[in-house]
Amino acid sequence: MKLKILTKDELKSKIAVIVGTRPGIIKFSPVIKELERRKIDFFIIHTGQHYSSNMDRAFFEDLELPMPKYINRRVKECRFHGEQTAEMIKGVEKALLKEKPYIVIVGGDANTNLAGAIAARKLGIMVAHMEAGLRSHDWSMPEEHNRVMIDHISELLFTPTEIARRNLIEDNVKGKIFVTGNPIVDAVELHSKLANKKSNILKKYSLNPKEYFLVTFHREENVDIEKRIQNFVECLKSLTSKYNYPIVFPIHPRTFNRFKYFGVFEKMKKIKRLYLLEAIGYLDFQKLLCNSLLVLTDSGGVQEEACILKVPCVTLRENTERPETVDVGANIIASTDPEKVIKAIEFFIGSKTKRNWQHPFGKKCAKKIVDILVSELERK
Ligand code: UD1
Ligand code: UDP
Repeated sequence: MKLKILTKDELKSKIAVIVGTRPGIIKFSPVIKELERRKIDFFIIHTGQHYSSNMDRAFFEDLELPMPKYINRRVKECRFHGEQTAEMIKGVEKALLKEKPYIVIVGGDANTNLAGAIAARKLGIMVAHMEAGLRSHDWSMPEEHNRVMIDHISELLFTPTEIARRNLIEDNVKGKIFVTGNPIVDAVELHSKLANKKSNILKKYSLNPKEYFLVTFHREENVDIEKRIQNFVECLKSLTSKYNYPIVFPIHPRTFNRFKYFGVFEKMKKIKRLYLLEAIGYLDFQKLLCNSLLVLTDSGGVQEEACILKVPCVTLRENTERPETVDVGANIIASTDPEKVIKAIEFFIGSKTKRNWQHPFGKKCAKKIVDILVSELERK
């Protein structure tokens, strides 16, 4: 039998949305709501990359999303990037062959999105990339490989900012570029008020607004390197001895496994007023974030949300693919070096920096993205 691609005539006038990780589910939520609102024919394929209930199902519930039509439960067994990506490509391809959608949309830089884009591209289906054009210029990051590869095989590139658009032009990509903004803005707008009403997490841990730090830490380049983990623990220690505020740390399962492996929990448990939590749902996280004094993180999405919510952010990485957050004065890139981290915190707290920056991620982004998808469907 011959290798097969789908012809344009075989494709149906519908859209496949690819999700698979916590941030992907969150970022797609406003787009999915907009597709539903406009009664556009779409369905969700879940690659199976994230599978623990608190990294996956909890978000479908918190964000009130329709469940995926397809999900690949074999991915959880994979240990290596290649193996995991290959299994996800197989799962997505199978679903695409059954449904034959005209457009596949992926969002972000996780392996899930590379797998979705490759599966679609190889079948001759149009690929749309939401959050295109981000670049850390750090070639040691798996996410940077994914960003570059996805952007080069996408027909529709939705960038959050002008900087991202310029990155794509510099990279000489073939697709059409649209500066749509980042739908994380819509997600935060929709859920931060709801979170303030519904979540009782501050009460649960007896936290006062603007009197605690929030921390997240999960990136491969941090938690797979013992020295960086030790540095991170030193940062938390310095933080509690300098400021008498609690630290709340919801732990990503990858981090949990690495901390156990490196035997870090014993040390962490000795740090006063450090609350170690399992990864939490979106409403609880939004409530914690918007009421925090400051957030320390290596997350991409949290850097954006902090900027949108006017919460100072100290990024525990060597670089960022979201330089706009630094440019507006909302974020300092401090690495995991305790001295640099404390200096960054002092800058935000000591100087009583005004939280009056404007975030750079646009507005009504989901609507803009869906408008473009619909006009492509109409052109079919
Ligand atoms: C992935 C993304 C990263 C993103 C993060 C969002 C890639 C290359 N990385 O990293 O860019 O910031 O998702 O959270 O795609 N695990 C569980 N349950 C889960 C998910 C993960 O236990 O639901 C544990 C497993 O031990 C797994 C490990 O975490 O092997 C790593 O998971 P994986 O999905 O490969 O990468 P993340 O670190 O989550
Ligand atoms: N988040 C959450 N619960 C948590 C930690 C984070 O809901 O315990 C949300 C956060 O609001 C943000 C997203 O997860 O929208 C970021 O995901 P993550 O840090 O896993 O990935 P990244 O953005 O770095 O790819």
